[in-house]
Amino acid sequence: MRSLILVTNNKGKIAEANAIAKEFGFAVRSPKKAYKLEIQADSLREVAEFAAREAYKKIRKPLIIDDSGLFINALKGFPGVYSAPTGKTIGLEGVLKLMKGVKNRSAYFECAVAYFDGKTLKTFVGKSSGKILESEKGSGLHGFGYDPLFSPGGHYGGRSLAQVDLLKKNSVSHRGKALRAFFKWYSNAK
Ligand code: IMP
Repeated sequence: MRSLILVTNNKGKIAEANAIAKEFGFAVRSPKKAYKLEIQADSLREVAEFAAREAYKKIRKPLIIDDSGLFINALKGFPGVYSAPTGKTIGLEGVLKLMKGVKNRSAYFECAVAYFDGKTLKTFVGKSSGKILESEKGSGLHGFGYDPLFSPGGHYGGRSLAQVDLLKKNSVSHRGKALRAFFKWYSNAK
């Protein structure tokens, strides 16, 4: 099986990415060493592209970076590119407080997957729309803070992303969409 490097310390990202990579005959692996590659920028695409270039300087092998975030429409896209620091500071409870009494609960997750091999830089963006629940549901099993707050709606009947299994999440998620688009391109390019 062909393998590709996904630079992350997030076990949830690795598990979800591996399930998708498998569909295309690939496996993803992550460097043991932790890399701190975060910058603040206006879009996830910019963050992912910057991180992919920086990681390549150290790893010198083709790699992908996944940068994701939750965008809440009533909060003008917050936490968005600030999803990671927001999760660590005000947390889910804080986000729920900001949404107390707010009628428009529509939100979306976005994921930018950037590939860099030293020459080619290619980025794929996936989105998943849904709504912010009134309270947390499930435990964010895959290490993803915001999963218990978000329901993809439709046939999920009010369940959160933390209450569905990995394959089901991958079938509708921002990460699933971005990674499938990436692997479709990559398996044809290779
Ligand atoms: P980053 O992509 O590692 O910078 O993650 C940004 C923030 O969004 C972190 O707090 C993640 O836990 C969160 N996040 C990223 N992807 C997901 C997801 O699929 N579900 C829930 N939270 C996510």
